[in-house]
Formats: sequence, C-alpha cells, structure tokens
Amino acid sequence: MGLGHLLIISLTLFCTGLQVVTAFEWGYWGKYGPKSWPGMCTTGKKQSPIDIVTEDAIRIDLGALKFDRYDFAFSGTLTNNGHTIQIKLHGVPIHLSGGSLPSVYILEQMHFHWSAEHTVDGLRDPLELHLVHYDNQYANFSEATQHENGIVVVAVLFELNTYDNPDLIQILETTKIVSNWVGKSMTPIRSKLIPLLLLPKDHTTYYNYEGSLTTPGCQESVMWFVMTEKLPISEAQVNVFRHVQSNNGTLKYNYRPKQNLGDRKVYHRLDGYNSASSLYASSMICTVVNILLVSFLRKTF
Ligand SMILES: *[C@@H]1O[C@H](CO)[C@@H](O)[C@H](O)[C@H]1NC(C)=O
Ligand SMILES: *[C@@H]1O[C@H](CO)[C@@H](O)[C@H](O)[C@H]1NC(C)=O
Ligand SMILES: [Zn+2]
Repeated sequence: MGLGHLLIISLTLFCTGLQVVTAFEWGYWGKYGPKSWPGMCTTGKKQSPIDIVTEDAIRIDLGALKFDRYDFAFSGTLTNNGHTIQIKLHGVPIHLSGGSLPSVYILEQMHFHWSAEHTVDGLRDPLELHLVHYDNQYANFSEATQHENGIVVVAVLFELNTYDNPDLIQILETTKIVSNWVGKSMTPIRSKLIPLLLLPKDHTTYYNYEGSLTTPGCQESVMWFVMTEKLPISEAQVNVFRHVQSNNGTLKYNYRPKQNLGDRKVYHRLDGYNSASSLYASSMICTVVNILLVSFLRKTF
C-alpha cells in the first residue's frame, strides 16, 4: 500500500468524521433551522410546543402536582451548550408526583427558552423555563425518552415587567460568565438555589397535554405541564439571555415554532373542579341515603 492509498484512506476517514458531526448539527435559524430538524421532528404527530387556546382547554381537576424537596436549597452548575443555558442541581434527588402522573419523576435539569415556546391564545412571552423530569423506573433520562410518558416537563412562563425578578439574579450573573463559553464546561452558581422560587406561587393550576421534546430528536414521550400563573422578568434580564453566544453567532432566540395540535386535547387543571363522574358518585350516594331513610321511616311509623 503506497502513500497515496494511505492519504485517500485518511482523507475518507476525516470526511466521514466531519459528516457525522454536521449530520447532528442543528440550530434555530439558517440551513440547520427547525424546518430541517431530522426524524420525529418532521414525521411526528404529537410535537411540541403548541399554542394553548384557553377557550378550548377541557376544565378538570386532575389533582395537584406534588413538588417534593423543591423547597430545599441546592448547589448547582450552569452550562452554555450553544442551544440554551442549562442548570443541574446536586445532592438528593428532587421528585415530582401527583396530578394523575403514573409514576414518580426525578428532576434531571432546567433550562431556558427566549422567547417562550408555548404561546397562550397566540401571545408569546419573553422567557420560558423548562424543568425536565424522567420516570424513576428508568435508568436515566435518555432511556426514559424512549418510553411513553417517560418524561415530564414543567414549563413556567415569564412575562415582561418593569422590575427585576430577584430569584433570577444568581442565574443571570452566572449566565453572563458563560455566555462566551460554548461547550460542555460547567460553572458553579455562587449561592444555593431553591427550585420552588422558580415556580409561580399557585403551582396547582396548569395546562396539561401530551407532546414531545422541543429539540432534536423530538421524542414523543413528554407529559407537559404549563403553569397557568406567570412570573415576572425585566427587559434588562431578558437581554442577558439574548446575548448568549452559540456556535453560529449570538443566540438571539432559541424557541421552536408552534406545532400542530392535531387530535390531541389540552386540559386545564383547576382546583376542586368537579368532573362528571364525581357528580354522578355524589348523586348515587344521595339516592342510597334516601332509600335507607324511607325504609327507616316506614319501620318507625
Ligand atoms: C449561520 O447563520 C447564518 C445566518 O445568521 C445562516 O445563514 C447559516 O445557515 C447558519 N449556519 C449554520 C451552520 O447553521
Ligand atoms: C442509560 O441507561 C442505558 C440502559 O441502562 C444505558 O445503556 C446507557 O448507557 C445509559 N446512558 C447514559 C447517558 O448514562
Ligand atoms: Zn426546553
């Protein structure tokens, strides 16, 4: 084998390697934007995000979500992965259950989208936080994405206000540090983080529907819980996110466009909202009580 052969082989290997890299490249604009995301992203039938039409949402009491250990203070690290700002918390696992969930879900990571991915009656807020959980019966997050209902994402919308949100200050200070460091390096967040403070006060009322991850491979394994109540954020705070760098310039925005709802239903969970079946049950109880009362009265008189 001559030098020429070796050169061709190594060139081929080099180019194959490059192709593998570019095949997985994706972004929010240009050649590799959402329209050219591969696989389920284009062929799926239960994709996210969606526009939530409040009038069409089915009002029902699905039970409150149970946020376990969300009130603890955690140390955490923050990463600019070129697509988002992502936070991982360390220490004891944080659990989500209740709300008609079939299992207990572990908090894997949190990240942000600017602007928001879910719109409500067509209105797009400047920021959306995703708290990503996976079913604890699976070994890890990536395995859970392969199973129906394997993933639960709690989404919190932030609406523009005139004052800074004090609960975002630590996250934003660390975001400024990593905004030029695209990659996997993790930077510690200076003070401890209490995840409960990143949820609205009323975290019992939410929109619920079945959908997908909003980034490639767009796996359709996600139960979405979009909180009804929103949190505030100032323009200056949103601008910190808008200055984050990606592999292809400033990450001015990182939201996926609206996907078709198709034949899916959106539920609006309201506390104490009586479903038809519980009304039926209480009318059954009344009937039984009436029969007993009548027979009791007959015996007495
Ligand atoms: C980078 O961004 C430019 C526009 O800002 C776009 O035309 C181009 O396709 C993008 N490149 C990649 C690799 O996404
Ligand atoms: C996730 O779990 C599966 C199954 O146990 C394993 O094959 C895979 O390597 C794990 N992936 C990661 C990223 O830990
Ligand atoms: Zn997300």
